Amino acid sequence: MSFKILGTGRFIPPKIVTNDDLSKFMDTSDEWIVERTGIRERHVCTEETTVDMAVEAAKNALENSGVDPSELDMILFTTSSGDYTTPANACLVQARIGATCPAMDVVSGCPAFLFMLDCAAGYFARGRVKKMLCISAERMSRVLDWDDRNTAVIFGDGAGAVVLGEGDSYLTSRLYVRGSTIIQIPNYDGKSPFYTSHAETPWVHMKGQETFKFAVTRLVTDIKDVLSDTSLSMDDIRHIIPHQANLRIIDAARKRFKTREDLFYVNIDRYGNTSSATIPIALDELNRAGKIEKGDYLILSAFGAGLSSASCVIRW
Ligand code: ACO
Repeated sequence: MSFKILGTGRFIPPKIVTNDDLSKFMDTSDEWIVERTGIRERHVCTEETTVDMAVEAAKNALENSGVDPSELDMILFTTSSGDYTTPANACLVQARIGATCPAMDVVSGCPAFLFMLDCAAGYFARGRVKKMLCISAERMSRVLDWDDRNTAVIFGDGAGAVVLGEGDSYLTSRLYVRGSTIIQIPNYDGKSPFYTSHAETPWVHMKGQETFKFAVTRLVTDIKDVLSDTSLSMDDIRHIIPHQANLRIIDAARKRFKTREDLFYVNIDRYGNTSSATIPIALDELNRAGKIEKGDYLILSAFGAGLSSASCVIRW
């Protein structure tokens, strides 16, 4: 017993920031950003918090699944840009949607949605839950150094959610970690007069090119690995939903597998990298557009801070 996906949801803050908007206060250009990343615009919060976005995505997914908050047995939540270190952001969602079940946060950078699904599969396997809500919400605008053109242009805000029920749709998964801080958001280091040094500023710090190489290698390896766990071939897969960090990373994987042009889902042009919210947002877009049918096989694959990566195969 693992789970099946009963419904999906998302919330995207309405404020759009184009590359030209950024170039008004940063030394960058639409041409550079489109050519080097594939991003044309991203959505950013103005008054919405991370939990606000999560609540809207959760309500949306509950409605889509026909599940009432009172039926939930557990809420899991991933974020690298939460409103709080404690309480867990999941606890605040629990209260605001009117659920009464346990709730907690799972932290694992950009691939956290997939680490969360793997935790969820464990709860179902142990027979501890019948219905679960899994949410990823990211207010990356809060943790960016807006003076750093290397990072500020590539991220965006948003939230996605899925409601899970008992089933056998989660066919296989692979999780990978190689501990490193080459992508990091340090916590605020406090004001202790006793520390002899202080950590870096609490913004995203990323060694772009090292991350790029890690990303391409993991995307290709992880997709191959999960596929080899099943009796499926690439021709059996309806969509591969890769983490949206850079269109060149997706293109590199696409070339490596020599797949049909539209097999890898792409929406980075509209959202940038929304960290762990990326995959559930994409899943909801495909679901609501009627582009996933019962029985379709999907590969979800993500990489990022950790360094970590994860992939899984799901039968819809
Ligand atoms: N506008 C204009 N010029 C820029 C910008 C910008 N926004 N950013 C960098 N440049 C400049 C650099 O200063 C450099 O100039 P120089 O040659 O004069 O020194 C030049 O462009 C090339 O810089 P690179 O860093 O080599 O650019 P690159 O092609 O590697 O692109 C990028 C940078 C987009 C960050 C890329 O490395 C990348 O996508 N890396 C992977 C990111 C990723 O996968 N993240 C995933 C997870 S994130 C998470 O987990 C939180």
